[in-house]
Amino acid sequence: MSRTLIICKPDAVERGLLGEIIGRFEKKGLRLVAGELRHIDYEVAKEHYIEHEGRSFYPELMEFITRSPSFVMVLESHVPGAWLTARAMIGETNPAEARPGTIRGDFGVHASENLVHGSDSPEAAAREIALFFPNLAPEET
Ligand code: RTP
Ligand code: MG
Repeated sequence: MSRTLIICKPDAVERGLLGEIIGRFEKKGLRLVAGELRHIDYEVAKEHYIEHEGRSFYPELMEFITRSPSFVMVLESHVPGAWLTARAMIGETNPAEARPGTIRGDFGVHASENLVHGSDSPEAAAREIALFFPNLAPEET
């Protein structure tokens, strides 16, 4: 078993792509174990994207992610590596470079507004799940 944290970013909610995105993950066997429509505030955004503080795109990223509600969710797989499966399905950061068949490759139009976030390691998944869903029961082992 493994888990990952996914954020359907403000552009995904605004464009009505939630059903499409969640459906893709579900069909791949990533089961929804927690989910919330949530307007991410600056403090939480800062904590979540702490590794990017100081980067050139950081102010734009903060403004974007806090602009309107996101759908934040925890997905669980019966096999290890939920984070890796989800990242493969999300595609490259820049939608122009993301392959067709990936979420960003099929629907993304903007380097910053790229629809979905996925944890990039098991450690990041654990940290991000604890940040957004502190009361979620641990996965069964
Ligand atoms: P994420 O963390 O959101 O899953 O995306 P990622 O791993 O593919 O990309 P990362 O390097 O972690 O960047 C985080 C988010 O910052 C925005 N960004 N904009 N304009 C730009 O050059 C630029 N670069 C990054 C994107 O929203 C990216 O997903
Ligand atoms: Mg990242």
